[in-house]
Amino acid sequence: MKVIKTKSELADCLQQFRNQQKTIGFVPTMGALHEGHLSLVAKSTESCDITVVSIFVNPTQFNDKNDLANYPRCVEKDCALLEKAGCNVVFTPEVEEMYPEPDTRQFSFGNLDKVMEGEHRPGHFNGVAQIVSKLFDAVKPDKAFFGLKDFQQVAIIKAMVKQLNMKLEIVPCPIIREADGLAKSSRNMLLEPQYRAIAPKIHQTLAEAAKKRDCTPEQLCQWITSTIDATQLLKTEYVQIVNFDTLMPVEKLTEAEKPIICIAVWAGKIRLIDNFVL
Ligand code: PAF
Repeated sequence: MKVIKTKSELADCLQQFRNQQKTIGFVPTMGALHEGHLSLVAKSTESCDITVVSIFVNPTQFNDKNDLANYPRCVEKDCALLEKAGCNVVFTPEVEEMYPEPDTRQFSFGNLDKVMEGEHRPGHFNGVAQIVSKLFDAVKPDKAFFGLKDFQQVAIIKAMVKQLNMKLEIVPCPIIREADGLAKSSRNMLLEPQYRAIAPKIHQTLAEAAKKRDCTPEQLCQWITSTIDATQLLKTEYVQIVNFDTLMPVEKLTEAEKPIICIAVWAGKIRLIDNFVL
């Protein structure tokens, strides 16, 4: 496995693979890898000849300076996991390599970046689009793999690829959960024990909510919020039921409306997101 820090070295290395007609799969990450990331690497190694993983904590997508400062960083451990998982190339650029000058591009994705995470984390998706477009330019993959825990991010990246007319396939991959149902996330390792113990309540509540169809989306969201907040330790920031494709609020909980529940919850100082397709 090669570890590469510059775009020019990456371009040279990947060109050699392309010259041999090899297909390239790409998994962009911010490191602190867990089984969720490794499941994306597994999907890539299954369907592509070469797998590239990037590890880059992207400053432009953090709307909260503390979140950026506290984001877990453990590149050596990550590389050991990636080597075992069959990754061929790890790209670990410094900030100056990806942003030699400030990126002033402003993306617009209509409703997709106005709601939920877009509303609560101003500028977040613009930063995601900036870095993912730069990484796609650097890697030029045939396929890129993203986890559906960040369901809204997947929708934004698909829209960005369309807008920029990029020629690659975005492959959404299922959420990987802990045995107790908590969605795997790099932020889980920052949870203090009492918050880690109660955090599975988020998924349990969404799974319970999915069985309730004789109410309106508003009533269901109220029930979810009050059930989660009754734990005293968890505080719901938002819960919304939206159409899977458009992210517009659904009016009825019918299959035709393709509803998905999306939620953000504070567990102490750590913000967790999750979702559940109805
Ligand atoms: O999902 C993430 O880890 C990040 O948002 C991504 C896609 C690597 C961009 O920095």
